[in-house]
Amino acid sequence: MLNELPTSKVARAARFARTGLNVGANYVKHYAKRAVGAEASTDDLHAANAAELYGTLSELKGSVLKVAQMLAMEKNMLPPAYADQFAKAQYNTPPLSGPLVVKAFRDAFGKSPFEVFDEFDVSARQAASIGQVHAARKDGQALAVKVQYPGVAASIKSDINLVKPIALRIMGLDESQVRPYLEEVETRLLEETDYALELRRGQNIGRRCAHLPHLQFPVYYPALSAARILTMDWLPGQHLKEFLLTEPSQEIRNQLGQALWNFYQFQLNELHEVHADPHPGNFLLRGEGGGTLAVLDFGCVKTIPADVYRLFVDLLAPATFADPARLEALLTEADVLRPDDSPEKRALYLRTLHASLELVGRPFRTAAFDFGDAAYLKALYALGDDLMADPELRKQREPRGSAHFIYLNRTYVGLFALLTELAATVQTGA
Ligand SMILES: Nc1ncnc2c1ncn2[C@@H]1O[C@H](COP(=O)(O)OP(=O)(O)O)[C@@H](O)[C@H]1O
Ligand SMILES: [Mg+2]
Repeated sequence: MLNELPTSKVARAARFARTGLNVGANYVKHYAKRAVGAEASTDDLHAANAAELYGTLSELKGSVLKVAQMLAMEKNMLPPAYADQFAKAQYNTPPLSGPLVVKAFRDAFGKSPFEVFDEFDVSARQAASIGQVHAARKDGQALAVKVQYPGVAASIKSDINLVKPIALRIMGLDESQVRPYLEEVETRLLEETDYALELRRGQNIGRRCAHLPHLQFPVYYPALSAARILTMDWLPGQHLKEFLLTEPSQEIRNQLGQALWNFYQFQLNELHEVHADPHPGNFLLRGEGGGTLAVLDFGCVKTIPADVYRLFVDLLAPATFADPARLEALLTEADVLRPDDSPEKRALYLRTLHASLELVGRPFRTAAFDFGDAAYLKALYALGDDLMADPELRKQREPRGSAHFIYLNRTYVGLFALLTELAATVQTGA
């Protein structure tokens, strides 16, 4: 039980410096072993570093944990050992004490939660990454109340500065080249601490997607919400893992998968704004009515500018894949290829992007796609690993393309991962 978060910048910095050192030491051990010709697999190294980093991250909690989750989603950008460690992040966090929960309500409403609601359970039902979720009741309605840890918003920026050197070392990149990308991530993370924004976005997307079948969205209560408190209806259902233990039929899994696919395509194509956190913790599933899916957590929403939307769709279009000249033109427009690139560099990027798009675009090129074949997702992750390991690409040390693509890619890789776990066959509709 936490009475206090280690929010002091010095304490956090000290904790991180230690991890940095240990990660460094693991590298030294690794290369020392290699130097004397001993067997030292890169996997061992990654596993050691990942456990080290995870230990630190779960102690720091808050926004750092969010960064960890984000990295977990970017499985295709991370060696598997990191991804496994980071995937734990959502579920293993100590709860806040009662007095801190009451204080959050006093700060927001000048009242205790017992005065605000008819019933309020002070022990949290669910841990969240930067808060926790309580069960409450008012006027007979069962409610979910997300309470944010104090001090999270204030510490995001310093957290990012702490994570940055480690992340850069893992990726082998330098600050100036990744600045726009880090800024994009920082902006999304800061937005995530604003529950008033989450409420508006949840209401808006929920309203505009209300016609889509087999989906459910929370009803939010603005009068019972604030910047760090979010009140909505308690939705029934189970997380994906538990739901799958009930052995739902293929029909149910297909219906749920289709609902999920339609939800994302509608957001992309019609709203130009997407729920950009398709983490399994953000959906509640149930078998009723042939399969119903509740969508939670509009804390991370990516708004897609018109030109980025068009590029994304064109890049994934089947026609582009079959037409190298068109691909080259689009990649130039996307600033992935630059006019002054050497022919070798051009060829390298073209080859890489062609292979990536072949894979990522595959579900879009057929009328139906069977995510039940786990080989697809494996290939997608393996592509990420290969790109990370490619000596030619590593030599470039220069990420390219619009920062807007970070959350778009993450959204679709996350969606594909969910559909693969569901083993759903989806009408993807090319
Ligand atoms: N309206 C709700 N009804 C039922 N459970 C909820 C609801 N909102 C959140 N939860 C539970 O709390 C968990 C964390 O909530 P979430 O909004 O995803 O937090 P975070 O933004 O920190 O990721 C969810 O995985 C879910 O189990
Ligand atoms: Mg969540």
